[in-house]
Amino acid sequence: MNLLGVSGSLRAASFNTTLLHAAQDLLPDGVSLTIHRLHDLPLFNADVEAEGDPPAVTAWKDAIRAADGILFACPEYNAGITGVLKNAIDWASRGSPAPLTGQIACIVGASPGMTGSARAQDQLRLILRRTLTRVAPLGEVLVFQAHTKIVDGQLTDEKTTAYFGAHLNAFINEVRRLRA
Ligand SMILES: Cc1cc2nc3c(=O)[nH]c(=O)nc-3n(C[C@H](O)[C@H](O)[C@H](O)COP(=O)(O)O)c2cc1C
Repeated sequence: MNLLGVSGSLRAASFNTTLLHAAQDLLPDGVSLTIHRLHDLPLFNADVEAEGDPPAVTAWKDAIRAADGILFACPEYNAGITGVLKNAIDWASRGSPAPLTGQIACIVGASPGMTGSARAQDQLRLILRRTLTRVAPLGEVLVFQAHTKIVDGQLTDEKTTAYFGAHLNAFINEVRRLRA
């Protein structure tokens, strides 16, 4: 099984991207996670799309199509998802079939505040429903006060790590079940 990891943050020291790196270490044998960076995606423009997808868009869509499931690490900006992530989803919602249609997703997130990106994660659920992405029916991973749990680019909090690992296993089981 090959999962795709997507972070809604472009920041080098992103807490959310760190969650994806932590996931790579927590996955069981036989399951891998490839992180796809959104740095090169242009802003969505239907005029550009009409002339043909730019290479970064094609690479993004191909990565989604090749994956067995997607792990979204979702930062919160102003009580919503980041523009970076919304833009990426908008590109991947286009085409017939669109790459996101029928894909299976898991949402996690981190923020230094007390809600651990809960509002953004809820918004992402709603947006993915519109794109016909199947968000796995799982609990939530809300890494609140992330600066106390992620230090020097490492997820250091043992309880969070154990909970996250169990959540990833549950997601993998859902991917297997939905693809059976
Ligand atoms: C424009 C902006 C708006 C933000 N709004 C929120 C917010 O509504 N809720 C929250 O918990 N954190 C908010 N934050 C703080 C982010 O959670 C924090 O910058 C976090 O580190 C971003 O994720 P990253 O570490 O993956 O880059 C905001 C940050 C920025 C730059």
